[in-house]
Amino acid sequence: MTIRTIEWKDNVLIMIDQTKLPNELVHIQFSDYKDVANAIKNLVVRGAPAIGVAGAFGLALAALQSNAKTKDVLIQDLETAKKILFETRPTAVNLSWSLEKIMRIAKQSQTISEIKESVIDTAKQMADDDIKINRTMGKHGSQLFDNNDTIMTHCNAGALATVAYGTALGVIRATKESGKNIKVIATETRPVQQGSRLTAFELKHDGIDVSLIPDTAVGYTMANRLVNKVIVGADRILRTGYVFNKIGTYQVAILAKQHGIPFYVAAPLSTFDLKSNPEDVIIEQRKGNEVTHIGEKKTAPDDINVINPAFDMTPPQLITGIITEVGIAKPPFEDSIKKLFQAKK
Ligand code: MRU
Repeated sequence: MTIRTIEWKDNVLIMIDQTKLPNELVHIQFSDYKDVANAIKNLVVRGAPAIGVAGAFGLALAALQSNAKTKDVLIQDLETAKKILFETRPTAVNLSWSLEKIMRIAKQSQTISEIKESVIDTAKQMADDDIKINRTMGKHGSQLFDNNDTIMTHCNAGALATVAYGTALGVIRATKESGKNIKVIATETRPVQQGSRLTAFELKHDGIDVSLIPDTAVGYTMANRLVNKVIVGADRILRTGYVFNKIGTYQVAILAKQHGIPFYVAAPLSTFDLKSNPEDVIIEQRKGNEVTHIGEKKTAPDDINVINPAFDMTPPQLITGIITEVGIAKPPFEDSIKKLFQAKK
């Protein structure tokens, strides 16, 4: 059984507290949408698809919390909650995608009880769809990987970044399930260590062969032919194929290009932003103490200036293919991404 990150039971949202991993596997129960917003902000739940579904359930809780007696007041309450949830993390587009979708459904419903019911049902459907999409994406992507491949991944685009199964790690799981023998190299992913805390944890949990490297060993492992393919997730993909993902992804992609190693991205269509240009995308800047400390331990001088961007942008010329639930986009990406969206209709 792979890990399930988000669950909805008896009108309560239950999520794994990812800040406690890998030392403790603890679940937290939420019945207030403001606590969900704080959980997203503080990385209790993280990863683009997981943030999207958590936001949707946040709105479901807001609907249940509202004492509104008219449809207009309930929609107002949901708009307030949407704003608070939306402002938690700016880069992953899945959050605005899911919040907008829930609001559309809410506005189409007529009565207060219909709105509450439809918001909850849509959030539940999004969670179920996330797992189905990841499994389909995994099947498509597994064709690109061969027996005895060693696959590098950066950050955590696994079950813990989704409802279950994962995007990039979903492709890795599907490749293994198809009977191929594969190994994984996970980068530690400083400063928050999603690679060592989360990817290493969940792959080990599932019995997948995984080795951990410091981020600084990416060049070494590629130059020494210890890795032959790379796969990562994404927080936002533009129509031209620019990919925003965890800080450090760009460096990994450049090194892969230098060593002739295929570099793949796996993401659902809800991660695509077909409207924005690269300069429109807000890169989240996080607190300095993520860099000046490792856990509780201070590893930098007092009052040092810190630059701590959470994401970077990888240009399309470094990307071999983008794996989605409706197929694989190959360069030139503007054309192939357009075709994927046409195929979805
Ligand atoms: O800051 P995080 O941990 O939310 O960043 C997560 C990533 O960058 C993931 O690679 C991305 O969201 C894809 S998750 C399927």
